[in-house]
Amino acid sequence: FASAEVARRLLSWYGRQGRDLPWRGTRDPYRVWLAEIMLQQTTVDAVILYYERFLGRFADVGALAAASVDEVLTLWAGLGYYARARNLHAAARQVVEQHSGSFPDSLEGLQGLPGVGRSTAGAILSIAFDRPAPILDGNVRRVLSRLFALQENPRGTAAEKKLWRWAEALTPADCPHDYAQAIMDLGATVCAPRQPQCSVCPLEGLCRARALGLERQLPLPAVR
Ligand code: ADE
Repeated sequence: FASAEVARRLLSWYGRQGRDLPWRGTRDPYRVWLAEIMLQQTTVDAVILYYERFLGRFADVGALAAASVDEVLTLWAGLGYYARARNLHAAARQVVEQHSGSFPDSLEGLQGLPGVGRSTAGAILSIAFDRPAPILDGNVRRVLSRLFALQENPRGTAAEKKLWRWAEALTPADCPHDYAQAIMDLGATVCAPRQPQCSVCPLEGLCRARALGLERQLPLPAVR
């Protein structure tokens, strides 16, 4: 199938079915970055309240950088993976001290911030700056593993290369902002780990795992 067809279907689905989430109305890199860090390893439902409380206390990166790390940890309490809160604070200080308070607008610059890996940098660049960059978070891994019927350990070196190559090939040059949210949303809702809702999936007719009857078997368990 053609990459453009996948993007076209995802964007159309997102226009009809995409969720209205608190960070969807903004392109402010600070807000996008905050949401993406909170959403690492944490569900949308758990994040919403924390996201709003954080913004209530720290309206911009300067306010976050000026706070103590203890206050940041207190606000983060309950969200888990506390290294994220320490990195968040360190990254805010770095943006203020090394980038004059503006988030970098390149993959390399974003990946230089503590807590921002390749996938999160791609999400921020796509969503905040509307520049095409591949994303490969847990949800996107599952979507791509099924779409291409990846029948190997998804954390193996060869699989990692394939997944990033697919993520890159599918990312459209136009509408990167919407496409990024669309593919992450599909993975979080329709292309669910145990009970994929293939009958309402915009990619059903293209999905190799579905054609092979393997949608529940894939992705294979990760072995690191
Ligand atoms: N998971 C990670 N980032 C997300 C986003 N922007 N929207 C929905 N789920 C996500």
